[in-house]
Amino acid sequence: MKICMIGVGYVGLVTGTCFADKGNIVCCIDTDQEKIKALNSGIIPIYEPGLKDMILDNKQNGRLEFSSDLRNSIADSLLCFITVGTPPNKDGSADLSYVLNAAREIGKCMDNYLIVVTKSTVPVGTTDAVRDMINSELKARGKEKLTFDVASNPEFLKEGTAVADFMCPDRIVIGCDKGPIAVCMRELYKPFAHSENKIITMDIKSAEITKYAANAMLATRISFMNEMAQLCDKLGGDIENIRRGIGTDMRIGSQFLCAGVGYGGSCFPKDVNELIHTGQKNGFEMAIASAVHKVNEGQKKYFVDMIKKKLSDNLQGKKIAVWGLAFKAQTDDMREAPSLMIIEELLKMGGQIAVYDPEAMEQAKQALKKENHKIEYANDMMRAVAHADVLVLITDWQEFREVDLDQLKKVMRQPVIFDGRNQFDPLEMVKHGFRYYCIGRNCYGK
Ligand code: UDX
Repeated sequence: MKICMIGVGYVGLVTGTCFADKGNIVCCIDTDQEKIKALNSGIIPIYEPGLKDMILDNKQNGRLEFSSDLRNSIADSLLCFITVGTPPNKDGSADLSYVLNAAREIGKCMDNYLIVVTKSTVPVGTTDAVRDMINSELKARGKEKLTFDVASNPEFLKEGTAVADFMCPDRIVIGCDKGPIAVCMRELYKPFAHSENKIITMDIKSAEITKYAANAMLATRISFMNEMAQLCDKLGGDIENIRRGIGTDMRIGSQFLCAGVGYGGSCFPKDVNELIHTGQKNGFEMAIASAVHKVNEGQKKYFVDMIKKKLSDNLQGKKIAVWGLAFKAQTDDMREAPSLMIIEELLKMGGQIAVYDPEAMEQAKQALKKENHKIEYANDMMRAVAHADVLVLITDWQEFREVDLDQLKKVMRQPVIFDGRNQFDPLEMVKHGFRYYCIGRNCYGK
């Protein structure tokens, strides 16, 4: 099939490339000429395992192209996906201007039948607004007889495993009217579905809500475990035991139950807040979503307060090493990364900070711009920790887990670790002579 993808952000790039990889002809459109130029010369704007090779391969085989020419691209396409950003407004609502602008442009350019699919995460009713926008543009051009259909097809990609998630999804949600559009969308996704019942078709509004419900449910599990972890620290339990104890119940399942420094990233915080906002707009309180958000904010503070309390609120003259800056491992994304707030607080305490992340150093420099003169950006994890009085671990990269503990103890001035991701076994750490503090497992004595 011929597909036009509007918006070469994270989702558009992965989606377009994966469709091309299964034999479709895909044109990815973006208004950012620099980005298009870079992609055409093989420079990929994001780090995502496996993506670069796939882009280069499909480009070379003529199945994938990057352009700013929407008119040309949709003239040729049967399907047009909207994959532009929906960043948060100040009040927590999603900014839909990019989505509606894409719809406006489609209405201005299209001259043939088109199926317009919203893949951006959008509040309920947005796909209908896309339809209205296209209709009004067609009317303005005197082309109201031109037919098109709309569909909602939310994505469930995780950063760091986005290509694998797309190629082998748990499920594919398609919101559209019954009939030819549903048939066409099923056909498009058949090579990814592996079994028929992985494709779930439904009405458009339910598909839009499904995306928010999925992210809010996952965020709820994390906040619930973070709350339990705080309870463990108060009462003397071990959150890892609780996790295994409940995760083995098939009804609960074992994923997304890891306590830590709170969730971050471009989706969970934004989508939970948008749900709260949608509730308010419609006259009712999304009580669970509100609590999930509140617990998440509190969790970052809980970790910082633990550091403050154990170090008597004073880091003057101390070197603090920070391992991990991105909001999670396997990505260079700093959006809503808990490290930002934690580093700011550590700086306030007067610490001399050295940071390291395997992928997010450049992005961190951008995100921490105002504080950069006070931060040392180390070239590797051992350099960050050399002569440090304290190590603070914020992101769960594999290489941190695999560190040689004896070597680590040797290079640090004092063997003190605050582990915001529970990456080590507390008993093992005590055995190695560390003062080790973590989340919900502080029951083993120091
Ligand atoms: C999420 C959804 O998983 C994905 O389906 C959706 O399309 C986009 O949002 P992503 O933001 O890439 O994906 O990250 P994810 O792996 O879900 O992690 C989100 C946050 O939760 C991270 O900060 C992570 O560290 C945290 N997390 C995750 C925990 O604190 N504990 C867990 O057990 C799992």
